[in-house]
Amino acid sequence: MEIRLHSPLDMHLHLREGAMLRTVAPWSARDFAAAVVMPNLVPPVTSLERLTAYREAIGAAVAPHHFTPLMTLFLQPYSEATLSALRSQIIGVKLYPEGVTTNSAGGVSDLTAVEPTLALLEDLGIPLLVHGESHGFVLDREAEFLPIYERWAQRFPRLTIVMEHITTAGAVALLDRYPNLAATVTLHHLMITLDDMAGGLLNPHLFCKPIAKRPEDRAALLQAALAAHPRLMFGSDSAPHPIERKEAAGCAAGVFSAPVCLPLLAELFAHHGALDRLQAFVSDNACAVYGLTPLPKTVTLRRMPWQVPDRYGEVVPFYAGKTVDWAVVARDS
Ligand code: NCD
Ligand code: ZN
Repeated sequence: MEIRLHSPLDMHLHLREGAMLRTVAPWSARDFAAAVVMPNLVPPVTSLERLTAYREAIGAAVAPHHFTPLMTLFLQPYSEATLSALRSQIIGVKLYPEGVTTNSAGGVSDLTAVEPTLALLEDLGIPLLVHGESHGFVLDREAEFLPIYERWAQRFPRLTIVMEHITTAGAVALLDRYPNLAATVTLHHLMITLDDMAGGLLNPHLFCKPIAKRPEDRAALLQAALAAHPRLMFGSDSAPHPIERKEAAGCAAGVFSAPVCLPLLAELFAHHGALDRLQAFVSDNACAVYGLTPLPKTVTLRRMPWQVPDRYGEVVPFYAGKTVDWAVVARDS
């Protein structure tokens, strides 16, 4: 059995810089036509100069693959002039509450004070991408942020607000209440719960923000993905850290999934008899939400066993050493 995916898109990706960029970017560029590249570098992407240099570094790292990095800007209180000048260079602006995840120290500390910037984004037609977590108890952080999404969905009805990497049934329910809300969901949050990370021996390679939640949350996410909910998009949140930062006290948050996304998604959708919905989930929905034109890249997957490598450079991938039922067998662009 085979499936051909047209213009597969990863709508939430961390590519890093330097040697790590060169290690990980080719794996995304091999399987995806384009990806939304997160701006949480050190220092973050907050200027045209930094954005342009980063895009060029990504281009050099992914050659010769055909791959379009869809760039984002790290949200700060920008002026209208700055946002107007950057508008054609970005797909959206990413909001991190201060300190909620990896490299978010320069994020927003006052979610009300940031609203004038959100009004500018709305006027300029620039999507707002949000890491929606509070500073509360770790399992409740996304749920505590949902009223903020709701407030902004109401106050800025023309603003496209993307709830990034949703992990709860409550977020899925909110998606249906406001047409200007969209969401991404990761592969790992469709597959694991908190038990897989911390229910037995601790598995640091499954530790990420937001943390994986309860079985009923995973079920709600999976149901919406398998149904190809039109405003739910695939975003891997593939977030590599070197092995010594993961297998360590003070383990860094992030799951590196880029090389295994399409094979595991094919396995998951096939297992649930929903392979015909995968194209919408990994491409068509995102094109509709963001107004993107599909790119001329086709990836073919076949049902055949493929063993995931133990390492990619100094990074341990999701599903390391395990066997997936599907493999990418051809890519043409
Ligand atoms: C991401 C990272 O490492 O940059 N980590 C993660 O756990 N997902 C940041 C993020 O998206 O929260
Ligand atoms: Zn992320």
